[in-house]
Amino acid sequence: MVYLTRRERFSASHRLHNPAWTEEENFEMFGKCANEFYHGHNFQIFVTVKGKPDKTTGFFVNAHILSKIIKKEIIDKVDHKNINKQVDFMQGIIPSCENFVMQIWKQLEPNLPIGCFLHSIKLVETENIYVEYFGE
Ligand code: NI
Repeated sequence: MVYLTRRERFSASHRLHNPAWTEEENFEMFGKCANEFYHGHNFQIFVTVKGKPDKTTGFFVNAHILSKIIKKEIIDKVDHKNINKQVDFMQGIIPSCENFVMQIWKQLEPNLPIGCFLHSIKLVETENIYVEYFGE
């Protein structure tokens, strides 16, 4: 197996908020991330796929096609969007990095080409924080 990683970038806003809690409880748990007027991040996403290179092309996936799939399934849906309100696959879900990366996996995995398997997704929220998900 060979592993290939494609990086993409997008900007989006969100708010960490549990509607079952009071405003005070939300601020206690989420701090300024609970701000009712939202806040933004410049995210980076690293999608790592794996496969066995084809003898005739030397590829297991065409990196250009992979980039197009990531853009169509993820980036176009989240870039310059409010994650809480405008991203269909995040409706009713607290948009923490943990939940976000798991939903991104669900969106992407069924749309990959034959012979190209998702290995991990790394979602970088700030220069100090990122999450990684391996599909388990
Ligand atoms: Ni945030």
